[in-house]
Order: sequence, then C-alpha cells, then structure tokens
Amino acid sequence: FYNNITAQKQTKLEKQIEKILSKMTLEDKVGEMTQVTIDVISKGKPYHLEEPHQLDDAKLEEALVKYRVGSVLNCGGHAYSRDHWYGIMTTIHKYASKKKTGIPVLYGIDAIHGTNYTLDATLFPQQITQAASWNPALTREAGRITAYETRASSIPWTFSPVLDIGRDARWPRLWETFGEDVYLASTMGEALVKGYEGDNNQVHDPNHIAACMKHFLGYSVTLTGKDRSPAWIPERQLREYFVPTFQKAIEAGAHTIMICSGEMNGIPVHADKKILTDLLKDELGFKGIVLTDWEDIKYLYSRHRVAEGDYDAIKMAVNAGIDMSMVPTDLSFPKVLLKLVKDGEVPMSRIDDAVRRILWVKLKLNLFEKPVTNPKDYPKFASAEHAQSAYNGAVEAITLLENKNNILPLSKNDQVLVTGPTANSMNCLNGGWTNTWQGTETKYNTKGKLTVLGAIEKLVGKDKVTYVEGTKFDEAVDIKAAANAAKGKKAAIVCIGENPYTELVGNIGDLALPQAQVDLVNAIAETGTPIIFVMVEGRPRLVNKIADKANAVVMGYLPGNEGGRAIADVLFGEANPSGKLPITYPREPHSLHTYDHKGTDRVHSDFSGNGVNPQWEFGHGLSYTTFKYSNFKINKKELTASGNVEFSVEVTNSGKREGKEVVQLYITDLVASITPAVKRLRGFDKISLKPGETKTVTFTITPRDLAFVGMDNKWTTEPGKFTATIAGETVDFEFKGKVVKF
Ligand code: BGC
Repeated sequence: FYNNITAQKQTKLEKQIEKILSKMTLEDKVGEMTQVTIDVISKGKPYHLEEPHQLDDAKLEEALVKYRVGSVLNCGGHAYSRDHWYGIMTTIHKYASKKKTGIPVLYGIDAIHGTNYTLDATLFPQQITQAASWNPALTREAGRITAYETRASSIPWTFSPVLDIGRDARWPRLWETFGEDVYLASTMGEALVKGYEGDNNQVHDPNHIAACMKHFLGYSVTLTGKDRSPAWIPERQLREYFVPTFQKAIEAGAHTIMICSGEMNGIPVHADKKILTDLLKDELGFKGIVLTDWEDIKYLYSRHRVAEGDYDAIKMAVNAGIDMSMVPTDLSFPKVLLKLVKDGEVPMSRIDDAVRRILWVKLKLNLFEKPVTNPKDYPKFASAEHAQSAYNGAVEAITLLENKNNILPLSKNDQVLVTGPTANSMNCLNGGWTNTWQGTETKYNTKGKLTVLGAIEKLVGKDKVTYVEGTKFDEAVDIKAAANAAKGKKAAIVCIGENPYTELVGNIGDLALPQAQVDLVNAIAETGTPIIFVMVEGRPRLVNKIADKANAVVMGYLPGNEGGRAIADVLFGEANPSGKLPITYPREPHSLHTYDHKGTDRVHSDFSGNGVNPQWEFGHGLSYTTFKYSNFKINKKELTASGNVEFSVEVTNSGKREGKEVVQLYITDLVASITPAVKRLRGFDKISLKPGETKTVTFTITPRDLAFVGMDNKWTTEPGKFTATIAGETVDFEFKGKVVKF
C-alpha cells in the first residue's frame, strides 16, 4: 500500500486514516470525493468570472463548509501572481477548517511544463521536447523545479505527467506526450514523477508535490486522430503499448491518476470497471486517488450516452472505481452520490475505499499540518538558476534534421533574414497550457523573454538581422517583401510551424503545413538564398512539398520560455545540437507509421520493401561534430532464462567540437508467435565526448527486456534468434530455453 515508507510509518499512517474515517459522516465522505473548479467559489459565473478574480464568501461557505468539497482545481481562466494564489489558498483553508472534520482541501493545477498558471514562473519545454533531449536527468530537474515553484504558488498537486503514448501524429495532444516509444516515454515519465515527488516520494516535504499520471488509458490513439473521439484498442496492444508507462510511474510511487475522457472499444473509460478496478487497482496495485477528467461523469450521459442522467452516471463511475469526480462546475455530485449510497446502489465499502485513498494523499502531503505554503519561503522562484535549467532542457532537445554542406552553424557576421509565423512569438514557443488553457493570450507572457528573432538579434546584433513576418500561421502577410529581403542574404531563417492549442481546439483535418507557409518558402527559394527551416510545432506538420528547398532543418518542437535562446544558439554555433526525434516525422498524409511498425508495413505496392519512407526517422538527429561507432560486441551469444547479456560499443568523437550523442540500442525479434516489430528500442544512453575522445557504452539485457504481450495477453519471451543494432552495426544472439511468462 504505502510505497517507499517504513513499516512503522505505514501503521502510523493507516491508524491516522482509520481514525479520521471513523469520525466522518456519509456527507463528509461524498464531499471529500468531490472536486470543483475554482469558478464555483469565485465571483461571476463558471467560464465567465469577474475580473480581477475574487473568491466569493457565500459560495465558499456553501461548497467547502456545507458540501464539504474535498478538492478544488484550476485557475479560472488565466495565470495569477504568487500573492494572489497565496491569498486564494489561505482563504480556502480558512473555510475548509470551519467544517467539523477540518480536513484540508487538496488543490490541483495543470503545472505541465513548469508552473504555467503562475505569472512569471519558469517555463520548461513541453514534454515532447523533453523527450527529444533523451536526457531523463534534465526532465527530473524540470520536475523538481516545477514542484518548488508550484509550492511557491501554495499549490501541492499537479496534473502531470502525460503518460499517453504519442503514436498518432494528428492528435492535438501529441506534444503533451513523451513521444511514440514505450521505453523512452516510460523512462522520461519515471524521471518526471521522481522530480515532482522526490527520490523517495517525500511529498510531505514542502519542496515537492504530488504527481497525477494521465490519462489512463488509451487516450492517444483515436480512430480519427481527433481529441476524445473513440479508440479501438485490443487488450494485447493495450498492455504492450499503453500500460507500461503507467506501470513504471506507479512503481515510481506516483500518488494520483486521472482517467481518459474517451471511450475504448465502445466503453467510456470512466465507466469501465475492468480498466479502473481490475487492471489499475488490483493488477497494477495502484493505491492513490483515481480522479476523473473534466466533467467526465456528466459526459457519460451528455456525450457517450451510456447513462440517462447524473444518478446513473455517478453510480456507474464510482462503482467502476472512480475515487474523486472533477465535476467540476456545480455541486450536483455529492448530493446524488449521497442518495445513491442511501438507496444501496453504491456500497459503503466503495465510498470508504475512495476516502481512504484521498486521506492517504492528503496526509502524505502533510496538508493537515501545513495546508498552505508561503511564497516568501521560495526565494528561488523564477530565478536565473531555474531559467538556466529550462534553457538546458531546451538546448539539448533542439534537433538538427538536415544540414546540407554544413551550412550550419552560421557565422555571427552573416547577414540573415528572419521570417515566418513562429519567428517572433513567445506563445508559439510555449504552446498550450501557458498562462491560459490554449496558450494564445499574449498579455500574461513573462517580460524580457526572447523569441527566436529576439534571441538572434541579441546574439549577432540587430544590424545583421532583417525581419519580415511573411505569413501568419495560415494567411499570407507580406510574402513578396520577405522574398525581396532574402535577396543577397547569407541565409533565410524561415520559422514555420503552429500556433498554440490543446485538446479539441487543436483538432485538424489536414496535417500538411498550411499553404501560406509553403508559399513563403517557395517565394524565398526562388531568390536562391539558402533556406534554414526552424520548426516550432507540437506535431509534425508535413513539409514534403518544400523539404528539398531547405539547406538545413532545425526542429524546435515547443521549447518553452528559453527556447528562443536555445534555437539561436544552435543556429549560430554557440551550442552543438544533440536532440533526437522522439517520434517518426511522416512524409505523406496517409503514411503515419511509427518506427516500431510491423514487417508488412514495408511491403510497397510494387512489392519492394520501401513501404515505410518517413521524412525523418525516429531517433534521428545530427550534430556539428561526428561520431564513429566501433567494436559493437555482445559478451555471449546465448541468453538463458535467469541470465543476461551485455552489449558494448565504443563511441568516438571524430570531429572537431565537443558534442553529445544518444547511443540507441534496438533489438529485433526475428521470429515470434505474435508478428514482431521490425525493431524496438531497448536501451539508450546520452554521453558527452570531447574531440578525439572515446567512451565505451554498455547495456545489459535480460529476457524480460525482450518480452512482448502474447496470445494469452501475458508478457512473454520466446526462445529464438534476435538481432541487436546500434548505429547500423548488428550482432546476433539467441534466447535458449523455454517460453518465459512475466
Ligand atoms: C484535460 C486534462 C486536464 C484537466 C484539468 C482536461 O480537459 O484533459 O489533461 O488536467 O482538463 O484542467
């Protein structure tokens, strides 16, 4: 039950929980299970709050004292100052302590790339960008600082990390994931949980916060590629590709989890007992709070139509295993749940289970002793040190996809044109969930942060830089002027990509880069000036029509507040790029493969093996130096059930600059009872090498690392031959013995 704490403390905690529980009435309990948005206790109406924001005493009294609401979330529309947050939390806890049980309120917020709902907080790269660094230590550090700054905003709980696997380029939340690979995403997810919660999940420490893994389960691969539309995922695939990230984070001690808004195989996940109780609580052993997503119990009737109304829907969800309902805009939930329990439709044991979990988290967070942390105790909020960390995260993620004739890095003496819709926008660099939900509002942006244009100007001097906007996201502004300005320049830095978005608002009908941006590139290409793409985008917008016009391509993803500087530093050689794609960058709209596709995907209509031809491959990324791989070896050719094999490879920096390289180990199962993927990532290590330096990198692989989910839906390793690949070199080995089940 109680991860990572001593047996003695366990009993103490258990006793505390039982003592509190024994004094609670049913009204207290259903109140604890209720989460409302801050709008419910603020002046104004939900989604239309009065400005400036103010809490409303009568509403506080009703929600927190009369209905004993256990949790509040969100920001009521936009980011606030730390002082305002402190005032909010102090008032909320004043009301919470008025009720008989005195149980503190648990406040949660989407702090997903830094404390993005607090003005001036450190804003890190979004998760897809973090994954591109292939450096979990940086992500852990981002989590640690986010925890600190969230506590500096008096909030103890974040709805992060996203552990959905980003296997569909169309999905508008792709950028909120750690990319398409299960192993990479599991590794990064674990790092982020540990960053938030601490090495030993010591969330009672007021420098740490509770994590909320989301969105369990099967959210990211809808049939249409649109947000919250139906998914069909058979159990075998579900277990192999979608469960492992959550399993790893549960093992890492994450305290809470949020459920997927969508439906899987015709069943809304919020009503699916097999997923919420049998799999999550019983099999995976998750002991923390199971929270709904926004309004999702109501959606059981208003969207999914598996229930007739609140009564039906709440019964379904709570009996399926929901512990807390993000209702979130009214107080219907506790009233209806009370009636359901009185009617015998929801057993008291289920209610007690839910409340025990909620109390466990509140006690672990030390909210009873210290319900509100004070901003003045957090002097490092938004410090230069934290900004440096956000910069480090961004600069290690920037991915150099093309560099013909080594046109990059540019010289700081070169005259350049900077153009395109993402060149001069902080919002484009930060993406959604930045000061506002969609991240499009400019007025809350931190002053003094640099866009790509601003950072280039600062680095090389304004006299070297001409800026013409060229286009908006999908509308020409002054393409001709941009092309004219490109003439005679050493290079045109064309910043293409997307505006910020998230969730349904980010749904698209066409993955191609909008025509206006294509026109801009074509117009500049006609001048003969070399073109450098800087791509600032949350998903891979297709560039196949213009890719050959680019002499270099720099993938920036959504690099955050320090991302402009990071991109400029890469362009002009202040930094050596070391990011690698955490997704496959598709070439064609109807060829959306992942790198770990099956062999049949390769078979082209002309019967050649050219069926998979992405624009850029998963794991790809160039450097300003070169790396030579040699002596790829395995210590023995045969692996046994209880043994392991060790791979080693020597990597030499054969170029002239210091650089970082991500050594990637892929393994192919040559024959298996379930069609094997062409390859799977089974290990990676990011190393730093000085010119001429050589390092030996080793990976240890056990039979469990080779497992797939078999016909019986169990993790299985079958005897037979395997091929391991590092940087194009291969070695073969064999797993000897019987089939192993895990
Ligand atoms: C999103 C969640 C988010 C929640 C609370 C939902 O619409 O799907 O990811 O945590 O809102 O803001």
